[in-house]
Amino acid sequence: MAGINAAIVVVLLATAVGTFANDPDMLQDVCVADQTSDILVNGFPCKNMTKVTAEDFFFTGISKSGDTDNLLGSKVTGANVLNIPGLNTLGVSMARVDFAPYGLNPPHIHPRATEMIYVLKGELFVGFITTSNKFISKVVKTGEVFIFPKGLAHFQKNVSKKPTSVLAAFNSQLPGAQQFAAALFTSSPAVPNDVLAQAFNVDEHKIEMIREALN
Ligand SMILES: *[C@@H]1O[C@H](CO)[C@@H](O)[C@H](O)[C@H]1NC(C)=O
Ligand SMILES: *[C@@H]1O[C@H](CO)[C@@H](O)[C@H](O)[C@H]1NC(C)=O
Repeated sequence: MAGINAAIVVVLLATAVGTFANDPDMLQDVCVADQTSDILVNGFPCKNMTKVTAEDFFFTGISKSGDTDNLLGSKVTGANVLNIPGLNTLGVSMARVDFAPYGLNPPHIHPRATEMIYVLKGELFVGFITTSNKFISKVVKTGEVFIFPKGLAHFQKNVSKKPTSVLAAFNSQLPGAQQFAAALFTSSPAVPNDVLAQAFNVDEHKIEMIREALN
């Protein structure tokens, strides 16, 4: 009986691991992305191993603060498969986010990854919203971490007098990001005003005002 129960547990665990996996598991040591290939697959096809070098696994782009001189006062610099081809099929990536005074990384989701941030310096008000609209938020400081579960709306805002930057880790080679304000009000072609007016329960003039403010 114990043997059968153990076998069932193993099967259930295996199923659970399969169910909760994010990026699919790899089938070889490395599969450095060949971003020049015309072949489209889920991810990128592999570069010929004879052409693979250390540079494919290396990136300096998050060593310095990003330029936060923009409307929101924040800058996300990705360290993902798009700038580190060696990450292809490995299921992880990082990003650095820098914040100007009161800068905001606005509400957004990552469709393919849970995010874990580590505050490099400063102090941020961060939060996420569950699908039942419970708002989970906290002020996090230098050296602290916070988690944003996969697919849930979340944001980070600089609330300290000190320079603020975070390092983010993702369980996807390319987590993807969709900002709500940008997606709804700056898409191309535009989402019709009447759809947004009805969704937000305001008149179309207010939708037009938001659209102009964001474009
Ligand atoms: C990889 O490149 C080497 C050297 O150019 C070549 O001999 C080999 O056939 C290539 N492999 C594939 C799968 O294209
Ligand atoms: C947030 O960080 C920037 C630098 O990244 C800093 O100059 C600014 O004072 C901080 N903002 C606030 C409100 O403290």
